[in-house]
Amino acid sequence: MGQRIDVNHLNIYYGDFLAVEDVNLNIEPNKVTAFIGPSGCGKSTVLRTLDRMHEIIPGAHVKGEVLLEGRNLYAKDVDPVEVRRDVGMVFQRPNPFPTMSIRENVLAGVRLNNRKISKSDADDLVEWALRGANLWNEVKDRLDNPGIGLSGGQQQRLCIARAVAVHPQVLLMDEPCSALDPISTLAVEDLINELKNEYTIVIVTHNMQQAARIADYTGFFNLKAVGQPGHLEYFTDTATMFNNPQNEEAERYVSGRFG
Ligand SMILES: Nc1ncnc2c1ncn2[C@@H]1O[C@H](COP(=O)(O)OP(=O)(O)OP(=O)(O)O)[C@@H](O)[C@H]1O
Ligand SMILES: [Mg+2]
Repeated sequence: MGQRIDVNHLNIYYGDFLAVEDVNLNIEPNKVTAFIGPSGCGKSTVLRTLDRMHEIIPGAHVKGEVLLEGRNLYAKDVDPVEVRRDVGMVFQRPNPFPTMSIRENVLAGVRLNNRKISKSDADDLVEWALRGANLWNEVKDRLDNPGIGLSGGQQQRLCIARAVAVHPQVLLMDEPCSALDPISTLAVEDLINELKNEYTIVIVTHNMQQAARIADYTGFFNLKAVGQPGHLEYFTDTATMFNNPQNEEAERYVSGRFG
């Protein structure tokens, strides 16, 4: 089952620069939550704080809380490596490991976690993850071929299989379809729709139709001015966001009259 995330008074810094200010947000389990908003308003930055990837950047830090099922991910005794086991990430460009086969790509996260598994358990896991990512039938006869030999949409589904193979509770996706053609995009959207039965999903997208199609809740991030920190301007269920938003800036943005 997916886990819930509660963000309380989160301020996100790159060194001294306050990039995103005072985010308060409740992400429901087993739902898809979309982040939308203009470039530079902090969507990716917020997303990366949800699995402590933000801190990989030197000087980057946060103030405030991110609670995963009530447990603060930023508490002193929490190991960020463990957090990233519970919270998986899929990136904008499909990034299968270039020297690895399809099979080894799926197992890469598990191997990184230093979990020793038998050949037959590994076979089962590869099949389970690839079925979950809706890719099994397309690749089952060529698991030892290179992952980069797949189409863009297949590669992105391979990366999703790699992410789910470590059994996360939450899947974060930063514009996962922006490098894909429309057919592959729909395949990944169908998959996201199925995955929410198992996971909590947060997706950043610039594609309004995509947010409207797949998200249960949508957060609109905004910037007061260039150089100012981004903030969460408006958060609501997706139908309200796109049909009847109770926020003027959000209304201008979703109707394409922004800027
Ligand atoms: N590694 C970094 N170091 C310093 N500042 C950064 C870094 N990454 C992002 N920023 C700054 O943080 C702010 C938010 O950027 P972020 O990438 O989160 O925006 P975004 O909403 O994802 O934009 P886009 O839609 O273009 O992807 C911007 O002012 C950006 O310049
Ligand atoms: Mg971004």
